[in-house]
Amino acid sequence: MTSFPEILNAFEQALELERELGTRTVECDRALLAPVSAATSAAAPAMAATSAAAPAMAATSAAAPVVAATSAALPTAAELTACTRCDLHGLGRTHVVPGQGNANSPDFMFVGEAPGADEDRQGLAFVGAAGQFLTKMIAAMGYTRDQVFIANICKCRPPNNRTPSPPEMAACVPYLKRQIALVRPKCLILLGNTAMRGLFPDMLVRRGQWHVYEGIPAIGTFHPAYILRFDSARDPAGLRKAKIEVWDTLKLALARLGKKPPEIKKKGQTT
Ligand code: URA
Repeated sequence: MTSFPEILNAFEQALELERELGTRTVECDRALLAPVSAATSAAAPAMAATSAAAPAMAATSAAAPVVAATSAALPTAAELTACTRCDLHGLGRTHVVPGQGNANSPDFMFVGEAPGADEDRQGLAFVGAAGQFLTKMIAAMGYTRDQVFIANICKCRPPNNRTPSPPEMAACVPYLKRQIALVRPKCLILLGNTAMRGLFPDMLVRRGQWHVYEGIPAIGTFHPAYILRFDSARDPAGLRKAKIEVWDTLKLALARLGKKPPEIKKKGQTT
């Protein structure tokens, strides 16, 4: 089992490795690497409040949404709590988890699978161990959690953290679709197979390759929990490879917006 400090250092290690090994790339369609136009300004993104009391914030920018939203407002905890579109509402969830972050056209929206135990307790997405790893990923990209939007395919915790079923995903995805339409992220980062299948149910989405969801570039990578659960004792090289693949994909996402990860100092470097 991977130790917790090792998990938290995963991206520092990947960056370290990158320095040792030279830059790596993930196979992808080069044509899709073109920057996404003027929407990609280097200026710091406008922030939306992210308090636990109001995890879902209304988008405030006047710019036209990429797709027409079916409702003018982001799904709130109250709306989701009343939802009975699938069985998950009656299978032991404590809180719905709408998702939270910068709802004003952030550079990135991260999409996970469904809340786990910590998220279910707090009503916030990615606040457990996988969330801490995601925070590291976001920081390595040069952002804070408040500067991006974080959401899931399903808004209720499946019992025992099982993978949501296809009908559960299909029932809940319209909420995410509405969030995407209102939040208008410049790029979607899909964490794991459920996120990739949830948004692209009719096609095979490969990690590290670009797709377009409702006009928004989307790229998939491993779910942070996959890295956390990786049996590093059995396959240390596999874990290292997976971490590098995630990092390469995050860099592709930055490059898509004409950005690079922040410079990291070499060991012992003071300036
Ligand atoms: N895993 C997910 O996919 N989403 C969360 O919010 C937490 C863990």
